[in-house]
Amino acid sequence: MLLKIVKYPEPVLSQPGEPVTEFNDELRRFVADLFETTYAAKGIGLAAPQVGVSKRVTVIDLSCGKDPEQKLVLINPEIIAREGKQYEEEGCLSFPEIHDKVQRAFKVTVRAQDEYGKWFEMDGEELLARAFQHEIDHLDGVLFIFRMSSLKRDMILRRIRKAQREGTW
Ligand code: CO
Repeated sequence: MLLKIVKYPEPVLSQPGEPVTEFNDELRRFVADLFETTYAAKGIGLAAPQVGVSKRVTVIDLSCGKDPEQKLVLINPEIIAREGKQYEEEGCLSFPEIHDKVQRAFKVTVRAQDEYGKWFEMDGEELLARAFQHEIDHLDGVLFIFRMSSLKRDMILRRIRKAQREGTW
């Protein structure tokens, strides 16, 4: 089922998500819906708060649905190690057409549960490390524009306000 992606400044995007405690069919259906919604929007990741659900659930697929082996489900994830730096362009499905560079760690190690509750650890570098950091930020209510300089953020916020006035946001 396709879910509706909410845009900034929807309040749910700025709230920390609740930890998941029940790993049942309902959760697994929700995870499948998150993937379907990500692919329909041509994204590589989506976090539950972006569909109005304040829970610590996120999905990532760098292949955007082309390679089932790249599907990652992260439930109650945390970053347990960070290494190095990268400064690359990011976008976010809750900020249509906004892209700008964000400073991130080059490599991170994530600890998370899968949709059956099993804990695992995984390393990611470059784009995957950025996806981990961007999506886990969503679960803490932190949006990528708040990882940018205040100058860049203000420019983007002005652009959004203008689009809102014009009815295009
Ligand atoms: Co995002």
